Amino acid sequence: KQTHIKDSLNRPLRDLRISVIDRCNFRCQYCMPAEIFGPDFVFLPKNELLSYEEIERLARIFVGLGVEKIRLTGGEPLLRRELPLLVEKLSQIEGLEDIGLTTNGVLLPKFAPQLKAAGLKRVNISLDSLKDELFGEINGRNVGTGPVIKGIHAAKEAGLGVKINMVVKKGLNDEEVLPMAKFCKEHSLQLRYIEYMDVGDTNGWKMDDVVTKKEIFQQLKAHYDLEPVDPEYFGEVAKRYRYTGTDIDVGFITSVSESFCSSCTRSRLSANGQLYTCLFNGEGHDIKSFIRSNVSDDDIVTYVTDIWNHRDDRYSDVRTDETRKNRKKLEMSYIGG
Ligand code: GTP
Ligand code: 5AD
Ligand code: SF4
Ligand code: SF4
Repeated sequence: KQTHIKDSLNRPLRDLRISVIDRCNFRCQYCMPAEIFGPDFVFLPKNELLSYEEIERLARIFVGLGVEKIRLTGGEPLLRRELPLLVEKLSQIEGLEDIGLTTNGVLLPKFAPQLKAAGLKRVNISLDSLKDELFGEINGRNVGTGPVIKGIHAAKEAGLGVKINMVVKKGLNDEEVLPMAKFCKEHSLQLRYIEYMDVGDTNGWKMDDVVTKKEIFQQLKAHYDLEPVDPEYFGEVAKRYRYTGTDIDVGFITSVSESFCSSCTRSRLSANGQLYTCLFNGEGHDIKSFIRSNVSDDDIVTYVTDIWNHRDDRYSDVRTDETRKNRKKLEMSYIGG
């Protein structure tokens, strides 16, 4: 039985993004800069993470409240031990229509077949450049593009849907906009350009670093014929276009230049079990302590319903220098994007 709860701006609860671990094998400049996430950085100990049983319990309850889509994120989710086991548990939840995974791709050659067999439908893989040196600089670990490209092929071979995420930062990888389009088109991969966002407190974000959808689109238009594609569902994050005459599309995630809060149906569980109602709202709800205090499923339903009913987040709609300064910040690696 499903009830469909709404927030104070009449937005339903449709998605649950679950960060399963705060660690990553990369140190992307815009997410976990190596200067800050160094050898001495203290990550969460295992008992602070939600267990797979706890995640499954929460996921079932969230699906009962209207969630149709679950996305597993991190850090790097494939660093969590035996992730396919979690996918298998989640894929048995009745009413859940889609399970996705956002990953840097490096561990996919090892895990793609198991993930597919466990019921995963698709993966979103981050790749910000095709040049080994630049990519190594961006990921902060001097890893070339080879391991990620192998991961992309492994995912395709396993029968998983694949999207490529490229965060574009001015002066860093904007010259890779066209080469990435060409590469993805040739390999029939869906590419999404992501506007660099002011998540967290460590990446030194400045408005000047953002390359907007408009700028990227202009570059693309000079080389390709593109036609707009209608959203597939209410609240789809990416604005999509298709290379005319093909079925390959390319999308833009315009969190900065054209916000999409009015249709935001996403809730987030952080690696240590806090519930967040917006990527930019650092006031979490300690659902982990709540569920560890011997409560019934009905109690959890009431707890989540109350939080969702009060939700009024629309950070990207109202982002100003003032709101940027005054909010409590969440790191991307902790909340999972
Ligand atoms: P699909 O289900 O394939 O559409 O995935 P997705 O785009 O929701 O997830 P993914 O993890 O690939 O995220 C791509 C980018 O979109 C990342 O930079 C996310 O931080 C960003 N993003 C996803 N949801 C939101 C959101 O609610 N608000 C904002 N501001 N950014 C978001
Ligand atoms: N701005 C935009 N996207 C980001 N990601 C990580 N940090 C940022 C940021 N500051 C992206 C990753 C990954 C997705 C989950 O979020 O590249 O594709
Ligand atoms: Fe790791 Fe992804 Fe963050 Fe890069 S963007 S540091 S791959 S979690
Ligand atoms: Fe949703 Fe917050 Fe992103 Fe707006 S800024 S789309 S409310 S997560």
